[in-house]
Amino acid sequence: MIDKIKELIVEAEAFTAKSKEEVEEFRIKYLGKKGLLNTYFAEFKNVANDQKKEFGQTINTLKNTVQEKVNALKEELESKEDRKGLYGDLSRPGEPIEIGARHPISIVKNQIIDIFSRIGFNVSEGPEIEDDWHNFTALNLPEYHPARDMQDTFFIQTNPDILLRTHTSSVQVRYMENNKPPIRTISPGRVYRNEAISARSHCFFHQVEGLYIDKDVSFADLKQTLQYFTTEMFGKSKIRLRPSYFPFTEPSAEVDVYWGLETEIDYRITKGTGWLEIMGCGMVDPNVLDNCGIDSKKYSGFAFGMGIDRIAMLLHQIGDIRLLSENDVRFLEQFKSAL
Ligand code: PHE
Repeated sequence: MIDKIKELIVEAEAFTAKSKEEVEEFRIKYLGKKGLLNTYFAEFKNVANDQKKEFGQTINTLKNTVQEKVNALKEELESKEDRKGLYGDLSRPGEPIEIGARHPISIVKNQIIDIFSRIGFNVSEGPEIEDDWHNFTALNLPEYHPARDMQDTFFIQTNPDILLRTHTSSVQVRYMENNKPPIRTISPGRVYRNEAISARSHCFFHQVEGLYIDKDVSFADLKQTLQYFTTEMFGKSKIRLRPSYFPFTEPSAEVDVYWGLETEIDYRITKGTGWLEIMGCGMVDPNVLDNCGIDSKKYSGFAFGMGIDRIAMLLHQIGDIRLLSENDVRFLEQFKSAL
């Protein structure tokens, strides 16, 4: 009989319950009026004298085990109920979390920032609503200069001095006004031009412009920097500089990168030449330095500017620039695995 009671102790210790009813059933089975404990207590008088002590102790252990189990389970179930009351059922599986994707413009912008930050360029930003001085005049584009026609501008109708910036060169002007050389900064941001919207052009897009000003900065430094950039960005180190014109740089150049002619796409995007134009650049015109409070006799510098949208379209094979601003999740979701 003692062995049977010992088995019951092990059983009681292992017992678990999911509801209060189950606990109550368990309690009645052992501690109820007609429960097992009373049945065994009734047997006490029939137990041989030399076993009475052990029998008594074992049956007390069973009683205590059951009592403790009942208390512990009740407490556990009650605290679970409390939590349910406050927060709902905490044991239910959570809602699946949708992981977002970075916008391709941000992906490419961050890549460009990363590449230039490795050679000591910081990031500068400025307002999208600009004044005439920072967008044009300081950059060697006086009021009646024909080069202003190159960029169709959105002016504020009631005040022609205020406009939406047409390039982030305006940020470079602000940076030069407020900082002393050596200056190494890139200015990413959105710019606006009054152009018809099509698959290839939009009335707003994004640029990164770069500026380096110090003593004895030369055209060779510019070329070296651009070559470093194209190698890091595209894995292509062959570039060529074609003479060009910008009012704020002299001399000025367009930068082409040799893309190659390995695939059909290469033929299409380079119009069969293998060369792809990716940015404008030049040595900062001394007038611009002087306009911004930098002594052009002591310092020289270079500047460059490129369109982020075009590069994003190139690298991610996006056929229509409008997709970049439509916020269609089916498009945006495709960049989940990108950086
Ligand atoms: N600001 C020029 C543009 O928007 C780009 C550029 C920047 C060219 C710096 C030369 C030097 O087209």
